[in-house]
Amino acid sequence: MKESKYTTIDEALKKDLTQVYLRGWVFRQRASNKFVFIVLRDESDIIQCVISKSKNAELFEKAEKLTIESSIKISGELKEDERAPTGFEVSVSDMEIIQIAEPFPITEHQSPELLYDNRHLWLRSRKLNAVLKIRHTVVGAIHEFFRSLGYYEFDAPIFQPSQSEGGSTLFEVKYFEDIMYLSQTWQLYAEAGIFSLGKIYNMGPTFRAEKSKTSRHLAEFWMAEMEAAWMTLDELTEVAKDEIRFIVQEVLKHNKKELEILERDIKLLEHYAKAEYPTIKYAEALDILNNKYQMDVPWGKDLRTMEEAKIAEHFKVPVVVTHYPTEIMGFYKPPSEDNPKEALCFDMLAPEGYCEIIGGSERSLLVDDMKKRLKAEGENPEIYDWYFALRRYGSVPHSGYGLGVERVVQWMCGLDNIKDAIAFPRTMLRKAP
Ligand code: 4AD
Ligand code: MG
Repeated sequence: MKESKYTTIDEALKKDLTQVYLRGWVFRQRASNKFVFIVLRDESDIIQCVISKSKNAELFEKAEKLTIESSIKISGELKEDERAPTGFEVSVSDMEIIQIAEPFPITEHQSPELLYDNRHLWLRSRKLNAVLKIRHTVVGAIHEFFRSLGYYEFDAPIFQPSQSEGGSTLFEVKYFEDIMYLSQTWQLYAEAGIFSLGKIYNMGPTFRAEKSKTSRHLAEFWMAEMEAAWMTLDELTEVAKDEIRFIVQEVLKHNKKELEILERDIKLLEHYAKAEYPTIKYAEALDILNNKYQMDVPWGKDLRTMEEAKIAEHFKVPVVVTHYPTEIMGFYKPPSEDNPKEALCFDMLAPEGYCEIIGGSERSLLVDDMKKRLKAEGENPEIYDWYFALRRYGSVPHSGYGLGVERVVQWMCGLDNIKDAIAFPRTMLRKAP
């Protein structure tokens, strides 16, 4: 392929070019009677470009007509200029207008709803550009983490005949003459996969009809899951900690600029990248909540957001909480042999109020107990016969967990709302664009 003379703004600066050819969109435009200043935006950065009337009157006139988001190609001389927003400026010698944009619907100080209505355009904002780049790093890090440990990538169907994480959040879809459900998790199929591949992982779209309007729930989100034969809870939680530390390290390695744009506290992330993360039992969590913080959480109740937040705030790093009450856990989370009231499961809670980012467990090998629990949830255990068959042909202890990709991106970026951690969010109230 013939090499293009065009570079991105970032490449031009890195290569220390003097004559530059750039193409992009008008981020800002300001004209006086002597100069037009254009801040040009491309995928990599922004840069001030200046056109002087005295040097080129024809170009000056063209540039006066530019509107926000007009697409242009320019060439000119790149110089350091401390007055320019990023410290550099292009003195433009030529410009081609590709399209003059209509008045852009997003102006300064818009309501969040208008920004969500115009999400297809708001993706161009510096904020979302930075978030999407960090998301790219997070997703890449997850693949790299598992592949480097010898896990195989394994895909499961999205159309599924049954629930696995509670019937109340199932999305029903018409499937020819039948009803099927959109995947709530990859897990049950992964439990079949490990008998062939041993250690597997996946990242895929996940669907939950969440009726709660929180800043941490999407109806469509991406979950990164892993499952491993022979693995026990104590090994599992260490994998989860290593994965999170690796993700933070990768974000710090590749996205300093984006973190700065988002005004994220980089020192904090540097701390998370190296710190040890504690593991405590649910019972110890209650002890901390009730005795240190005078809360009143009875044994047997799931931790609510404010309680999760308190625990993570107490340790100031991600915390693994294990052994939640069996009774309130999904049918596949096994009772501990020492104390059947406690399940061999865990959640990882992120600090700074971001709360649960990972959930996982050992998998029950007790078919009768699972059938009983499914029935109690109003399910027909017969639909799960194929799943129970896995316990009849060389059953082995095994474990796995799921990480909420948007939850982690939200935390890495320091976002108030999870909707900003994905390009086109889906919630109960947000279906378009
Ligand atoms: O804790 P959850 O429900 O666990 C499972 O689905 C297991 N089957 C996973 C496994 O063991 N393979 O979900 C896992 C993670 C949560 O910790 C959370 O980070 C994220 O998925 N998550 C959501 N993220 C955004 N919006 C939602 N509605 C979410 N529900 C769960
Ligand atoms: Mg959970």
